[in-house]
Amino acid sequence: MSRLTNKRIVLGVSGSIAAYKAPDIVRRLQDLGAEVRVILTQGGAQFITELSLQVTSKNKVYHNLWDKEAELSMGHIELAKWADVILIAPASANTLANLTAGKANDLLGSVVLASDAPILIAPAMNQQMYNATSVKDNLTTLKQRGVQIINPEHGVQACGDIGEGRLAESDEIAKQVGLMFQSNKLNGKKVLITLGATIEAIDPVRYLSNHSSGKMGMALADACIESGAQVTLIIGNISTPISEPSKQISAISAEQMYQAVMENIDDQDIFIACAAVSDYSIKNPKNHKIKKSDQTLTITLTPSKDVLKAVCNLPQKPLCIGFAAETQNLLKNARNKLKNKGCDAIILNDVSKDDFGFKSDENEVIFIDQKGSLKLAKNSKQKLGRKIIEIIVDKFYK
Ligand code: PMT
Repeated sequence: MSRLTNKRIVLGVSGSIAAYKAPDIVRRLQDLGAEVRVILTQGGAQFITELSLQVTSKNKVYHNLWDKEAELSMGHIELAKWADVILIAPASANTLANLTAGKANDLLGSVVLASDAPILIAPAMNQQMYNATSVKDNLTTLKQRGVQIINPEHGVQACGDIGEGRLAESDEIAKQVGLMFQSNKLNGKKVLITLGATIEAIDPVRYLSNHSSGKMGMALADACIESGAQVTLIIGNISTPISEPSKQISAISAEQMYQAVMENIDDQDIFIACAAVSDYSIKNPKNHKIKKSDQTLTITLTPSKDVLKAVCNLPQKPLCIGFAAETQNLLKNARNKLKNKGCDAIILNDVSKDDFGFKSDENEVIFIDQKGSLKLAKNSKQKLGRKIIEIIVDKFYK
């Protein structure tokens, strides 16, 4: 996996001659696997056309806070929530001043204020402007607020001046965006994750399964890998690309998943049971296709082994994080699972909804442990995966 796979970047392009480099920045980010949506400020539009950015980003370019059509499809609040990172490149002196003042009088300013995504800024302007006290002060204030600055380069400028203020190279900007997702919070830790649906064969043609796509588990795997962990994936039936670098073991049935987990659990620090494991297996599956008839067909199911419970009961158990997929009495059922299975925490999701949970790119979860519960509002599984790992680190490794 390249470092920006599945990452959503909002790129703000503001009024600097360097705006002509924005399509190249878009391409470098895409080369690393990112999806990019561009906000073009009024100033930026003086230097680069909306069309160039639309063609390169393969998305509509956003420029107007009061665009009724845009608000109907993806409004500024959705765009703010959508972003994993907001990159402003080039950032003009005027944009820096607006951001420092917290202005929301244009789309970029509003999206920055409405987003919890980290912000990266690549300033670009004339060297005299860049060295102006007010610009330096604005940059210091933004840094103090946690904004990351990609320093401009020294060299000959478009106006002929020589000095500091040239936009950093596109590759460097893309690299810095990639580094935003790296941490060492789980350095040296081994994490085993189950994900996807199990398949219980009825005969060679039919089976019993569920709607899990593996997306939630893979988002957790991405977050663990980005945090420096060594990840082993026990993979059921999935419909999502596999995160790298990871050790991958395929396990189709509940019994295979149980065996694969037990064979690989010994030296693991954390076990995350995200797979939708069938609670029942087929008693005596047929090795030939069952013939159609007019008679009622009875298939007998037997309880399958509970993988999570078995790991929680190991004498040297790792930190055990389960999931609870519920459709009713959500909190009560999840708390019962936390207690009965003996895990350290359980992540509750409502799987009766169409717009999140199973298969969707989004989810809404409640992180529950012995001390209480914490709701994580609806968001992309990628973002939730990172938040869940942050919570695990905060609660169990600090
Ligand atoms: O894969 P996606 O499409 O992205 O969807 C994500 C998800 C909805 C599948 C995921 O977020 C989720 O909820 N996974 C758990 C699904 C499930 O089986 O939940 P459960 O409430 O039935 O089981 C409780 C826990 O016990 C789970 O951690 C499960 O992995 C584990 N279990 C269940 C049965 C069994 N035989 N062995 C188990 O280990």
